[in-house]
Amino acid sequence: MIDYTQLYQGLQHIPALRGWLANLPQQVAAGLSEHRWGDLPDWRAALDGLPDIPCDSTEFVDDVVIGQAGDATPEQLECLERELRRLHPWRKGPWEIFGLHIDTEWRSDWKWERVLPHLESLENHLVLDVGCGNGYHCWRQYGAGARRVIGIDPSAKFVAQFYALKKYMGEELPVDVLPIGIEAVPPQLRAFDTTFSMGVLYHRRSPMAHLRELRETLRPGGQLVLETLVIDGDLGQCLVPEGRYAKMRNVWFLPSCATLESWLRKSGFVNPRTVDVAPTSLGEQRRTDWMHFESLADFLDPESPNQTIEGHPAPKRAILVANTP
Ligand SMILES: C[S@@+](CC[C@H](N)C(=O)[O-])C[C@H]1O[C@@H](n2cnc3c(N)ncnc32)[C@H](O)[C@@H]1O
Repeated sequence: MIDYTQLYQGLQHIPALRGWLANLPQQVAAGLSEHRWGDLPDWRAALDGLPDIPCDSTEFVDDVVIGQAGDATPEQLECLERELRRLHPWRKGPWEIFGLHIDTEWRSDWKWERVLPHLESLENHLVLDVGCGNGYHCWRQYGAGARRVIGIDPSAKFVAQFYALKKYMGEELPVDVLPIGIEAVPPQLRAFDTTFSMGVLYHRRSPMAHLRELRETLRPGGQLVLETLVIDGDLGQCLVPEGRYAKMRNVWFLPSCATLESWLRKSGFVNPRTVDVAPTSLGEQRRTDWMHFESLADFLDPESPNQTIEGHPAPKRAILVANTP
C-alpha cells in the first residue's frame, strides 16, 4: 500500500536524484520500521482495510477534493470513514473525499492561500516539501503545476495518511511522501527547483544548519519558500524560549523577520524577502472531530490571548521567499 516503486523508477530519469537511489530504499525501510513505530501494524491494517472505490475526478487547484458524493455506496463510505479515523489525529487539510469532509486541526488551505501569490511559478518544477506532514501542500504544489513533488516527513503516521488518500487520487501520480527527515537527504544535492520548509525551522536546534541543508537541496537559481514562527522586533532579535512554547517542548528559535532575512543571506541565499506575516487565529488551528487533542485555544493565556500560556508572544507566522545564486 505504501509502495515507492513508481517513485524509484521516476528518479532514474532525474540525473541529479539518481545517486540517492543507492540509499533511499534503506532509508525508507528505517523510516517505516516497526521497532521505531510500534503502532505501524495498526496503521498498515487501516490502509489494507480501505474499500476499493473507483475515483474519476480529483481537484488540487482550489481545494483538495477526491471523487464525489454518490461515487461510494453508504457501506463503502462507512468503511472509508472508519479506517481513516484509525489514523487519528488528522492535523493538516481539509480533505473532501467522496463527500466525506475531513475537518483537520489546521486550515492548511489558508496557509497555501498566503503562500501561493508570492511564488515564482511552480510550472514544471521539481519540488521538495520538507516536513510536509500528511502531504496536503504537496497536492496543492502539484495542482500549481509542479512536474514531481517529493514530500519528506519522519512521522510514519502522517505518511500513512498520505497513502490512504493517494490510493484514491491515482497511485501513478508523481507526488510522494517519504518517511525521512531532512538529515537523510544527501548533502549538496542541488536538484530541486523549489524547496518548501513550512513549520519546521522553529523545531530545529540549529536554524543555520537547517538553512544550509535547505540551500543544498536547491539547484542554482532555485527558490526557497520558508514559513516559520516569528516575533515582532528588529534586526538581531530572536526569542529562544527556555521552557515550552505554546506547550511544545521542541521549539528553539523564533527570530524577527529582519533577523531571519539576515540568516538567509548569511546562509548563501540571495534576495530574501518577507512576503507575509499573520498571527495564527483560533479559526486556523483548532480542535475538531478529526483531531481530539489540545489545540491553539488550550495553548493561549485565557486572560490575555495575545500571549501563550507561558507568557510568550502568541504564535505569528511569516512566509519568506529567497533564491540560490
Ligand atoms: C508543524 S508541522 C508542518 C507541516 C506542514 N509543512 C505545514 O506547514 O502545515 C512540522 C512537520 O515537520 C516534521 N519534522 C520534524 N522533524 C523533521 C525533520 N528533521 N525533517 C523533516 N521534517 C521534520 C514533523 O513530523 C511535522 O509533520
